Amino acid sequence: MIKKCLFPVAGYGTRFLPATKSMPKEMLPVVNKPLVQYGVEEALAAGLNEICLVTGRGKRAIHDFFDTSYELEHQIAGTDKEQYLSSIKNVIAQAKFATTRQSEIKGLGDAILTGELLVGNEPFGVILADDLCVADDQGVMAQLVEIYRRTKCSVIAIQEVDDADISKFGVVDGTEDEPGLYTVTDMVEKPESADAPSNLAIIGRYVLTPYIFEILRHTPPGKNSEVQLTDALLTMARTSKVLAWKFKGQRFDCGSVDGYVEATNYVYENIYLKNKNP
Ligand code: G1P
Repeated sequence: MIKKCLFPVAGYGTRFLPATKSMPKEMLPVVNKPLVQYGVEEALAAGLNEICLVTGRGKRAIHDFFDTSYELEHQIAGTDKEQYLSSIKNVIAQAKFATTRQSEIKGLGDAILTGELLVGNEPFGVILADDLCVADDQGVMAQLVEIYRRTKCSVIAIQEVDDADISKFGVVDGTEDEPGLYTVTDMVEKPESADAPSNLAIIGRYVLTPYIFEILRHTPPGKNSEVQLTDALLTMARTSKVLAWKFKGQRFDCGSVDGYVEATNYVYENIYLKNKNP
């Protein structure tokens, strides 16, 4: 059973400056909820209630967000404003949180390896909170967990993207074993479109076996001189097996202004207004 979900949340969010100068990018709200809350809710919906946060300097707002705020709660107790806290109170009631800090920003692979202290020797989910995913039925993490249960292999979420966007992603190649499910044969982090092995891009959802830590320990810095999770996953694909799942749902790149605005409009019209979700 997978219980843990790792959230690498140490990044600077430079594409969102100046908003992220003194506020973590994961706290940017899409309508009325911060990005990181959507991510934790997706993990909980997949049955992962042990939330491991790899944070860094300037991320205190995330710690405070997942804690009780006695003064505020006392102040609005018994008023109709209490309803606005119900979703985050549900999250706090269901999830357990543990944090560790990445002392230097050295890439996603390094962030994951830093999280080993919290995850230990078990399979775990990874959510990159600035990729906001919405799905009609089952959330994307729940889709990956289901495939892991069946196969006991690491599994990553992928989607087809246009050539013009391919260099923003890790890209996989593979053989399609069943509709939408590939065995990975190649992986490249942010290739030029001419060098991309396919148009199947990795999005920020993974289920990983703990073998990844052993590989990451020996993975040298790659693209942009950072330790890349994609490089470690390629080693895993060559020495054991990695699956890639063309997930059902939609993904918004909330690390970019355009994707963030698109996500905001989508969530407002399709979730917020429909559910009257405070
Ligand atoms: C990371 C991964 C990349 C993946 C992307 C998805 O890149 O390194 O392989 O495609 O997330 O959002 P980042 O966008 O953090 O640079």
